[in-house]
Amino acid sequence: MENLNPLKLFLNRIYHFIFKERFFKKLNIQFPANIYRWDLLQLIIDKYNFKTYLEIGCDKNQSFSKIKINSKIGVDPISGGTIRSTSDEFFKTNDKKFDIIFIDGLHYYKQVLSDIKNSLMILNDNGFILVHDCLPNSLAQQAVPRYRGYWNGDVWKSIVELRTNKNLNIFTSQIDFGVAVIRKGFSSSPLILRNITAYEQLKFKDYYYNYNTFMNIKSYEETLKII
Ligand SMILES: C[S@@+](CC[C@H](N)C(=O)[O-])C[C@H]1O[C@@H](n2cnc3c(N)ncnc32)[C@H](O)[C@@H]1O
Repeated sequence: MENLNPLKLFLNRIYHFIFKERFFKKLNIQFPANIYRWDLLQLIIDKYNFKTYLEIGCDKNQSFSKIKINSKIGVDPISGGTIRSTSDEFFKTNDKKFDIIFIDGLHYYKQVLSDIKNSLMILNDNGFILVHDCLPNSLAQQAVPRYRGYWNGDVWKSIVELRTNKNLNIFTSQIDFGVAVIRKGFSSSPLILRNITAYEQLKFKDYYYNYNTFMNIKSYEETLKII
């Protein structure tokens, strides 16, 4: 976990307020109780009889320990999983392919984007990539640098960027703070964003007013029909 020194969080908050964004409206995206990321992961694994699982960012193995599958690898520089390394270092040397990959490491746009792109290269045909923490409800929950304990980061920006790719099928399941589901294949509803080149510069305000279109949100019931 990132160092959550209270003084550092306070200074980050001031920095954010002065230099990055001031926006006080909050969303109220509700997530069903008792449906977790590992439930969706396991459902997909069982449905497709998948054999190989990779998790990026394992922490205390909250998800990793629950996944039942023939072969699983977990990558984290600090704790949990099976390989003590950053995702970048892992991808440099890894030669294995996977049926399903769960990305839940460093929750910064650039890192998540790179984790997804690297994962696409080692994903078996018809495989799935799931990404956690895609639906923040407030600026504080997504602010980078982080100034809150309870935090999703700006993962959502990487999903917005990849949703413009016509060769990726992406939606965000409205469970457990938002779990994006990515598959290779022609997208029936790619995001068309004109005049945006630097996705990192998107503001929480942009997300607040466009989150449904940006993220292609599907309820859990819809998710079950899609997967
Ligand atoms: C939110 S936690 C993961 C939680 C877990 N996947 C779960 O389902 O509850 C994020 C983890 O990412 C790890 N992490 C941070 N930077 C990383 C990096 N560059 N590569 C891989 N993991 C990283 C942290 O050490 C932390 O354990």
